[in-house]
Amino acid sequence: MRIMVQKQGATKCGLAEVLLLLAVLLIGRGTCTYHYGYNPCEEEEALSRGNPVIRSKQVCGRPTALNRNVGGEDSVAGEWPWQVSLMKMGKHVCGGALISNDWIVTAAHCFQQNSSPSQFNVLLGANKLENSWPHKLSIGVGEIFRNPRYAGEATSGDIALVRLAQPVRFTDYIIPICLPAANVHFPPGMKCWVTGWGDISEGQDLPAPKKLQKLQVPIIDTQTCRRLYSIDTGDNMPPKSIQDDMMCAGYAEGMRDTCKGDSGGPLMCRMNKVWLLAGIVSWGEGCAERNRPGVYIRLTSYQGWIRWHIPDMEFIQPSQGHIKVKNIGAGRTDGMGPTFFVTALLLAVWTLNRILA
Ligand code: ARG
Repeated sequence: MRIMVQKQGATKCGLAEVLLLLAVLLIGRGTCTYHYGYNPCEEEEALSRGNPVIRSKQVCGRPTALNRNVGGEDSVAGEWPWQVSLMKMGKHVCGGALISNDWIVTAAHCFQQNSSPSQFNVLLGANKLENSWPHKLSIGVGEIFRNPRYAGEATSGDIALVRLAQPVRFTDYIIPICLPAANVHFPPGMKCWVTGWGDISEGQDLPAPKKLQKLQVPIIDTQTCRRLYSIDTGDNMPPKSIQDDMMCAGYAEGMRDTCKGDSGGPLMCRMNKVWLLAGIVSWGEGCAERNRPGVYIRLTSYQGWIRWHIPDMEFIQPSQGHIKVKNIGAGRTDGMGPTFFVTALLLAVWTLNRILA
């Protein structure tokens, strides 16, 4: 009789525990939902592992918005969420591209040899430079790394890495762009895009409120570009040379090009639904002149150097489709992480134990 009572009690208790377990299961499932194309649980987890760069691979290159930059057109807020403005003493000096939650790529010529990070800040999430907009974020510069190859105007190595003073949280307006793996080829004729707040013709500022401009530019192969730059060179002027770490894009007829103030900004190409950073606005002879297309620094030439500064940076092979979340550390897809499973297992064992007692 006593045993019976105990068994009954145990059974009731077991039911309650099963219900509790179910509740935990349901709550556990509900805690992580996708926002801005990323999972906040992954973010928390990555941050707690001290390894936030890994997550960029799952987020990068996919804006959530719809869908001197001479001859360009207005872009809309959120269209190029990795575009940043590098500001010196609060004034726009160059463009740049967000590549993780605390790194920016820009041009080396945006900085003097020993520029102090304290003079600079980075503006993120902006479309119009001159308006107040709740999604704008200004962050200090922690460190500046100019590529040591850079030796002045129109030379190789016009690339710099800037570490933000603090990591940023991604939003609809702040998303990194993907970096291409070293073997990704951007074929001549491929239609890519450049963006910037630079001049709209030589010496002419972008008018207020300074909406980010976008321009579609086809990739020009290096042979053709060298030939173009050798046309009509001044008598005592050697033609500017296109180095192997440079890539031309734009139009032989001129009219449309990047210009002063666009430097450091992204030349980007969409492959397999993902935007890749193909180049960095570097130089050109004048702006939008005939036979003088824009010259960009090739990102693929600097994978080793970027890895050296950011060891866990991901480089994307667009053919593989980078969106697969599996194999990326402990990244979970819907809140059912290892901690959760261990807790559930322990609870289940304990409940069974009580039922069978
Ligand atoms: N070097 C210029 C800057 O500092 C812009 C270079 C682009 N020029 C060109 N013609 N595409 O902003």
